[in-house]
Amino acid sequence: MQWGIKNRLSRIFNPETGRTVMLAVDHGYFLGPTRKLENPRDTITPLLPYADALMLTRGILRTCVDPEANIPVVLRVSGGTSIIGPSLADEGLTTSFEEAIRLNVSAVTLSIFVGTDYERETLLSLSELVNEGEKYGIPVLAVTAVGKELKKRDARFLSLCCRIAAELGAHYVKTYYCDEFEKVVEGCPVPVVIAGGPQLDTFKDTLQLAHDAISKGASGVDMGRNIWQADHPVAAIRAVRGIVQENMPVDEAFELFESLSNE
Ligand code: 5RP
Repeated sequence: MQWGIKNRLSRIFNPETGRTVMLAVDHGYFLGPTRKLENPRDTITPLLPYADALMLTRGILRTCVDPEANIPVVLRVSGGTSIIGPSLADEGLTTSFEEAIRLNVSAVTLSIFVGTDYERETLLSLSELVNEGEKYGIPVLAVTAVGKELKKRDARFLSLCCRIAAELGAHYVKTYYCDEFEKVVEGCPVPVVIAGGPQLDTFKDTLQLAHDAISKGASGVDMGRNIWQADHPVAAIRAVRGIVQENMPVDEAFELFESLSNE
């Protein structure tokens, strides 16, 4: 792997653990002002000290994150659709590589929509990004998106998506946790991180999800709603961090969450 790509990946993945806690705050690019992310600066700022990297669009980066903030950026460079439009899968590339370089990003990211009418376009966009990324030493994160079809999240489908992303050169892949998640990891030769998905019933469920994913081979999380829609977001990210970066058992991480929530 070339030096620039390795160097940037080591900003995202802690070299000592090989793992990452990415904070995803890119939801507005198709969902608009999502609950608890209405004012992104207010949501993001207190969480920054506990995130290894921030995933967001250039608009929110420029307006809601100070350039002095010392946080690696994973820049979402795909979009062009909305939750009320005809198809979430019809995404294109929105942001140039020159812009990514100007913003000093540690990686760029896009969604791929395997199994939809737009699989070819989104997979070719991934390939284009990888070609550019290799030119400039910037890693590419492929997100195996399912749009509104959350029921598609099974090991057979997600293994297919992750493997295709890796075959096309993605440097790491984000997907969903599922039963037999170890098969997804086994079939994917690059690191896999998991999204949290919509808010779960309890915060302990979130911790269990993170723990199960890590114990089955995930290299970290790229989590949004289950952190910043929690009643105590700072306590939430610190507890998830305990699991990902410190190998805490679920009960210990939950105790940490409860004690920080009561401070
Ligand atoms: C949307 C994304 C989100 O960043 C991703 O889903 C992570 O956020 P959450 O944990 O809220 O699901 O990539 O396509």
